[in-house]
Amino acid sequence: MNTDAMIKEFSSQFGKTPDHIFFCPGRVNLIGEHIDYNGGKVMPCAISLGTWLLVSKNNNKLLRFSSLNFPEKADFHLQDSYSKTGKDWFNYPLGVINEIVQEGDHISGLDLLFYGNLPIGAGLSSSASIEVLTGFALSKLFGINIPGKELALMGKKVENKFIGVNSGIMDQFAVAMGKKNNAILLDCDTLEYEYIPFEIGDNILAIINSNKQRTLADSKYNERFAECGKALKALKKDLDVTHLCDIDLKTFEDHRHLINDPVLDKRALHVISENFRVGEAKDALKANDLATFGKLMYASHQSLKDWYEVSGKELDTIVEFCKTYEDCIGARMTGAGFGGCAIALVKKNKFEDFSSKINAYYEEKIGYKPDVFASEIGDGVGELKKEFS
Ligand code: GLA
Repeated sequence: MNTDAMIKEFSSQFGKTPDHIFFCPGRVNLIGEHIDYNGGKVMPCAISLGTWLLVSKNNNKLLRFSSLNFPEKADFHLQDSYSKTGKDWFNYPLGVINEIVQEGDHISGLDLLFYGNLPIGAGLSSSASIEVLTGFALSKLFGINIPGKELALMGKKVENKFIGVNSGIMDQFAVAMGKKNNAILLDCDTLEYEYIPFEIGDNILAIINSNKQRTLADSKYNERFAECGKALKALKKDLDVTHLCDIDLKTFEDHRHLINDPVLDKRALHVISENFRVGEAKDALKANDLATFGKLMYASHQSLKDWYEVSGKELDTIVEFCKTYEDCIGARMTGAGFGGCAIALVKKNKFEDFSSKINAYYEEKIGYKPDVFASEIGDGVGELKKEFS
């Protein structure tokens, strides 16, 4: 859907044209999975798919939410605080508005129309996209001037406290701070970051949506979060550390007996080795050594599959195919897992062949087709400067 069509929809719903259009991307994570909430380093980038918000102020003291993706609409009177209602999509923007008013910022009534082309619940951060988008829009509309890092932290707080998922900072940071053709190397402990040019020569970044809905993702995610906490607690008996990612592989080897639980041991092993792989991946990308980068992607997937146990037969089938495809350098699941998407680095001129072969392979093994598309690396959240009457 193009912006003209979105404007038409806005006009037919609210009887006027929108004053502003904002856009926030989704993200993929190149490497560094499930370590943001363990104080590790991650390497996400913003993609070209995302969420749009068309918005105007109103004088009715009402927040009127509407979406082109979901049938539910909602009106809220302006209040000093808002609470979550069920599992409705508008809880995400509502949570952000709640944060902003709780901070003491004054807002007026708003007519809000959202549209997203990110597959929902597919690990491409549709929720972070809508959170950061709402924060950015309100920041602009009411002159609050919230810097990108703060928008990311606000989105994370909404996710943790309002929505109830113990996610880390990676997704919100990536969609707030993304930069065209660059990956972000983010230290999730200090929030220091560095842009790394994502130079992949004659390859492209393919996204393969397994089309397996991430059922149970939230509860399993919180379970992994808790397991990491337990493993850390055990290691802290002898080690003076704050996060699992403060521990290097050698120190872990010397102290892993303290954990004394095979499941927690596997979880810690994934986290600590994945953090190490991110460092290696950074060096490889900087040295333009894509072959090594690709091997690290495969190693990351293996660790998520065997040690962290967040993959599943759909994502494993995708990566298994990629390993056999000569013109694919590397592949792995991306995001929380339990379904959702995988990414792969594939030779540009082989993309169509890759697409049709992986489609056939996957359909035969799983029984339905994946969606395969090539992705650009884009900028983070922003306002679309569009003249409209
Ligand atoms: C989800 C969370 C992120 C991160 C990833 C896994 O996307 O929102 O914070 O933990 O899973 O790396």
